[in-house]
Amino acid sequence: MTSSMSSRLAQRIRELPPYLFARIDELKQAQLARGADLIDLGIGDPDLPTPPHVVAELQRAALEGRHHRYPSYQGMAELRRAAAAYYKSRWDVTLDPAREVVALIGSKEGIAHFPLAFVDPGDLVLVPDPSYPVYAVATRFAGGRVHPLPLQRLNGFLPDLEAIPVEVAREAKIIWVNYPNNPTAATAPLSFYEELVAWAREYDVIVASDNAYADVYFDEESRPPSVLSVAGASDVAIEFYSLSKTYNMTGWRVAFACGNPDLVGGLGKVKTNVDSGVFEAVQRAAITALTGDQTCVADMREVYRQRREVLCGGLTAAGFDVLTPRASFFAMIANPPGYSSMEFAARLLEEAHIVVTPTTGFGAAGEGFVRLTLCAPAERLAEAVQRMTKLPL
Ligand SMILES: Cc1ncc(COP(=O)(O)O)c(C=O)c1O
Repeated sequence: MTSSMSSRLAQRIRELPPYLFARIDELKQAQLARGADLIDLGIGDPDLPTPPHVVAELQRAALEGRHHRYPSYQGMAELRRAAAAYYKSRWDVTLDPAREVVALIGSKEGIAHFPLAFVDPGDLVLVPDPSYPVYAVATRFAGGRVHPLPLQRLNGFLPDLEAIPVEVAREAKIIWVNYPNNPTAATAPLSFYEELVAWAREYDVIVASDNAYADVYFDEESRPPSVLSVAGASDVAIEFYSLSKTYNMTGWRVAFACGNPDLVGGLGKVKTNVDSGVFEAVQRAAITALTGDQTCVADMREVYRQRREVLCGGLTAAGFDVLTPRASFFAMIANPPGYSSMEFAARLLEEAHIVVTPTTGFGAAGEGFVRLTLCAPAERLAEAVQRMTKLPL
């Protein structure tokens, strides 16, 4: 773009916060150019393949001409029924597939479009800090204002609802929550959602719950709940569920939102105006994933569990302050004394050739930690532990 064209960028793009991972990307490129053997624990994208029966269904469905046309905006009825059946068996939540489920082109798409339906210019939206960046960016794209809710270790990285000033609560339009959490890997007990729903009903705030990591957990006691399983939640809440992490389908772009019919309907209205739905062959594959044999999901959990033992067990034994996750495929490590998150990440990259993410990239309150992912084979994680153990810090 010439400089005169870049000067015409819309204010909403110019106001985007600086890309905080740019420095890490730069260091990573420099190391790669030198031929370094990098272990990349920065990317939250499963390295495991999509289960073969799901791939086979895509192949079969792609050959059927009836799937080659524009899909319906809200998603195939069968996919919405599969989503409702999934919520019933997983959380005993009853959803009307006709009004309470909408298919998404990945949950990022739905999360990004949701504020366009419910946020007017100047409206206040409560966004955890640190958090997945899309909640804040999408709020700003809709003209809304972001009120950060700090997530702190001493509170288990749950927002302190009682600390939200009454005037802020009264003004707020939406509160975003995400458990299992990116980047902290924290989980929320059902009692948190009970409190949240009571609070949201009191102050008339929409609860937008991002449950992208609902099925990546390590033991039955940590099995993540859904906000929709709380009595009264269907009056105030929408939940985003993604197939990306459960079935290693990040590249496929398929997810759904469900919950209160007006919230689902509002999001659907935005979507009818900006996209044309998910390729039906992908929807067929998603139906197969949701309704088929779930052994692949148990196997995926077992792989991450073993990796967690290698990485978190190894680093804890080496003396690092590791926040061992109970769910998600993230793990945070506290910075050694004297280091900022960026300095610690840079040191790991330059001297141990390990890519991690400074948690400040997800919000200023993320200072104090770096985030590692379990998206690499156990041998590489073991190698990472060895390299970090040798690093004089
Ligand atoms: C917290 C969280 N929500 C949502 C997403 C988006 O997932 P997808 O668009 O693949 O469904 C991600 C992806 O990394 C994420 O970390």
